[in-house]
Amino acid sequence: MKKKDKLKTNELAENAAVDTSVDYSQIIANETAAEGDAPKPVETVKVNREEVLIDVEGVTREFYRKDQKIVAVDNVSMKIHRGTFVILCGKSGSGKTTLLNLIAAIDMPTQGTISFEGKAYGSLNENKRDNLRRSNMGIVFQNTALMSNMSAIENVEFALSIAGFRSQKRRRSSIHWLERMGIRDRRNHMPAEMSGGEQARVAIGRALAHSPKLLLADEPTAELDSKTSMEVVKMFRDLVDIDGLTIVMTTHDVNIMGNADIIYTLEDGRVVDVRENTKLS
Ligand SMILES: Nc1ncnc2c1ncn2[C@@H]1O[C@H](COP(=O)(O)OP(=O)(O)OP(=O)(O)O)[C@@H](O)[C@H]1O
Ligand SMILES: [Mg+2]
Repeated sequence: MKKKDKLKTNELAENAAVDTSVDYSQIIANETAAEGDAPKPVETVKVNREEVLIDVEGVTREFYRKDQKIVAVDNVSMKIHRGTFVILCGKSGSGKTTLLNLIAAIDMPTQGTISFEGKAYGSLNENKRDNLRRSNMGIVFQNTALMSNMSAIENVEFALSIAGFRSQKRRRSSIHWLERMGIRDRRNHMPAEMSGGEQARVAIGRALAHSPKLLLADEPTAELDSKTSMEVVKMFRDLVDIDGLTIVMTTHDVNIMGNADIIYTLEDGRVVDVRENTKLS
């Protein structure tokens, strides 16, 4: 981590006032005793899969380096329906991360429009776009690192504190999501004391803890072995089928693509293939 980023992170930690001295094991023991050990049944959320959540229309993103023009995303259109699992694949440099950043409203297109629930990003100022992202989206960035000096549960709580959640709700939501990710028993482990797959689950739990409508995950399985990758993608499938979440994820891995509803292949920033997985519907 660069010194500047580290400083920023420390500032955030201080501002968020996360009490890292909290004894989570005691809190969780009390909660478990109160709730009983049986996990709560997960209810299936009904969503209208006809509804378009994200509409990408004729989107191009150009970058300029010295006198060279790079067209990272080239006239891409796609309608992402609520409650679907979408994969963006393609070789390195094909434009996957750039497109994901545009969908997240982290970056803005050179041409074309993107809207979320009918609201065009171009019609919103930066503050409103930040708010839209914070309340509706969970993001797992490429090469996401957890805070190395925080345990699994503190990592999730930290993200919630930045999102403005109160302490009681932060704790409940963090435990819930670590449980959903199947790593509740690793909650007090530091990142260095977890496997790559467990760390990926914490990063995904952290992105989902504020209950977003959309999860954007940039190569979340890149560092994982094939068995763990499959487990993570099956978990994504459940989040879509049970929770009604919409997921857009990028990958190079052909073995996991059968779990998505729709697969877009990018080449030089263009969509060159669209495959719908009818077996799943
Ligand atoms: N800020 C930038 N300035 C200039 N060029 C950029 C910038 N960001 C991306 N690019 C270029 O745009 C193209 C697409 O990059 P992008 O990161 O979207 O690819 P990717 O498909 O995510 O690749 P990978 O699989 O390696 O992550 C690449 O040629 C890259 O060099
Ligand atoms: Mg990328």
